Amino acid sequence: MAETLNLDKPRSARRPAARRSNFELYSWLFMRISGLLLVVLVLGHLFIMNILDGGVHRINFAFVAGRWSSPFWQFWDLAMLWLAMIHGGNGLRTIIDDYARRDSTRFWLKMVLYVAVVVIVLLGTLVIFTFDPNIPAD
Ligand code: HEM
Repeated sequence: MAETLNLDKPRSARRPAARRSNFELYSWLFMRISGLLLVVLVLGHLFIMNILDGGVHRINFAFVAGRWSSPFWQFWDLAMLWLAMIHGGNGLRTIIDDYARRDSTRFWLKMVLYVAVVVIVLLGTLVIFTFDPNIPAD
């Protein structure tokens, strides 16, 4: 005669395997890739602005106007702005997560950081694309 096997019910309810997002993996990868791009963008920027052809002494409104008349330099500066802000913002997010002890401190520090990143990225992008070289001198 067949006996039925009776097992106790498991104490905890069955749950589907937790779905973990890969956000931290991609953010880790982004830091490496943006870091490499920033080496080129930032060192190129420093070289042109501070060393080449008299360096900072030749920088004035006309110099900036001349550079931003070229889509190449507009894009260079835009890439530098976006990458440095997202790279720096994501780096600071990690530091806040590591060091902030209270949940509320961590939350508010990150809110300040995110607002600052968004405002600076939007403002910088607006300036690069709406810059007017013909502003009257007076
Ligand atoms: C110029 C070339 C740059 C390279 C090669 C570079 C590379 C990196 C790398 C690989 C990391 C990750 C470190 C880790 O996960 O342990 C990192 C973190 C970080 N980066 Fe950059 N970065 C550069 C520029 C910048 C700039 C311009 C900023 C600021 C706007 C910045 C701010 C940060 C911050 C705040 C962190 C987090 C540091 C930490 O976790 O302790 N970096 N950088």
